[in-house]
Amino acid sequence: MKDWLKTLPKVELHLHIEGSLEPELMFALAKRNDITLPYASVEEVREAYDFDDLQSFLDLYYQGMAVLRTADDFFDLAMDYFRRAQAEGVVHVELSFDPQAHLARGIEMDVQIEGLTRAMRQAEREWGLSTALIMSFLRDRPAEEAMSVLERAGPYLELLDAVGLDSAERDNPPSKFAEVFARAKLLGLPRVAHAGEEGPAEYIRQALDVLDVCRIDHGVRCLEDPELAARLRDTQVPLTVCPLSNLRLKVVDDMRDHPLPGLLDAGLKLTINSDDPAYFGGGVLDNYLACHHAFDWNKDTFRGLARNAIEVAFMDEGRRRMLL
Ligand code: ADE
Ligand code: ZN
Repeated sequence: MKDWLKTLPKVELHLHIEGSLEPELMFALAKRNDITLPYASVEEVREAYDFDDLQSFLDLYYQGMAVLRTADDFFDLAMDYFRRAQAEGVVHVELSFDPQAHLARGIEMDVQIEGLTRAMRQAEREWGLSTALIMSFLRDRPAEEAMSVLERAGPYLELLDAVGLDSAERDNPPSKFAEVFARAKLLGLPRVAHAGEEGPAEYIRQALDVLDVCRIDHGVRCLEDPELAARLRDTQVPLTVCPLSNLRLKVVDDMRDHPLPGLLDAGLKLTINSDDPAYFGGGVLDNYLACHHAFDWNKDTFRGLARNAIEVAFMDEGRRRMLL
């Protein structure tokens, strides 16, 4: 099954590029930028990745990305990920990035976007990967800051495929970003949002009603609200589910307790993704494999999940037809 899952053309819709920073590259970039890390070795970094919840992960995630300073650093980060992804049968990657986390460290938007988009073009040339870029707002920061980031992204709007919403979900409801997402809509940008990862099903409802999103990132708590689950089934709004992330952040205690089989039975449009592969123990293939081990799904189920991701990806129609 592993060999078959590897050859299955897979599409990654939910990936934080800063969460693909492997400890080896973290050390290399720290050396290049003369930054002292609070770890003695790569092994020590990996040992620190023992999380209690989303916030305990976010603390290390924001700390780790401090090694990213130049456009070349962002380029190397993305190329490192694309190389691994294409080697495990990923054919299209949608990477989200967190501009506020870098702006707060004095790293300008043009540096971030230049490095990432240069890597996207090179991966397209080198491996035939297609890619899309999602600019995410940090929901635990003020909405006014997100609005100013959206304005600062003005010169780069053509390079963005969507905007997103991530970071600490509890007590940061989607409604806080109503105006920002309304402005993004006016600018012609598609919208996605994390909702129902740690936060309640109500946040999924808000993401749909207030932010007018076309996809929900995670969304695994939707079954707590049967009416919402029925709505997601009827509208086929996709969920970008990240099983290993949910396990490592203790959204579930055991993969066999993951709501994925229930979500599938409920007729929802599901996709399988990695979220932050360097922190959660693997990329897209590892996430498919974790499902194989926990749920013993057949090939048709995996084919259907991979197909869902192709159907709802931000990609041109010619590419979509070729992959379907
Ligand atoms: N930022 C990076 N990974 C995230 C996750 N799983 N949830 C919310 N924000 C994130
Ligand atoms: Zn995420």
